[in-house]
Amino acid sequence: MLHLLTWVLIFIPAYPAAEDVCSQRPDVTALKNCCKLPNLDFSTYNSKCSQYLVNGVHISPCSFECIFQASKALNGTSLVMENIEKMLKVILDSDKFVKVYVDGFRSCSTQEKVMIRNLKRRRMPLTGKCSSMALMYALCAHRYFYRFCPDSVWSKSSVCNEAREYSIRCDDQLTGLPIKIK
Ligand SMILES: *[C@@H]1O[C@H](CO)[C@@H](O)[C@H](O)[C@H]1NC(C)=O
Repeated sequence: MLHLLTWVLIFIPAYPAAEDVCSQRPDVTALKNCCKLPNLDFSTYNSKCSQYLVNGVHISPCSFECIFQASKALNGTSLVMENIEKMLKVILDSDKFVKVYVDGFRSCSTQEKVMIRNLKRRRMPLTGKCSSMALMYALCAHRYFYRFCPDSVWSKSSVCNEAREYSIRCDDQLTGLPIKIK
């Protein structure tokens, strides 16, 4: 993790202008196959949040909201980082992965205002049972995990390295879509 950050900090300023780099989009869908995700075990929340299971899995906004509420990980639309970490320790089986996800959620907490703006624009609820805030934070943290995938589960092919570099430099953290170049 630290190694990667150092790498990013050293190399980014050496790049030519962003337009040049970001105009050539590699196969960033490859990124999904580059990082072997850890197992997520939500079973602790099955009793409290069972009504939201879809085919036995937690994938809906309601599920995520329920799990975050059960963990006291959301206060209104804001993350409660201390409880995010506790929640992740329950869901993930390795501390190494917890650290990366915690860093991810911390980084994503800076996107709160953007998330609120996006939800408001679509007239979606910001808080309450099936608000999408928890899901949006989770997706954002998930994207962070792909970008800062721990070495032990990262496949070190050049395609993967390229896709990751591109994603970090040129894609929006929140949506995963290309950053518009002004
Ligand atoms: C929740 O947010 C409110 C208002 O921002 C704050 O006063 C309160 O201390 C927060 N509670 C927790 C548990 O963080």
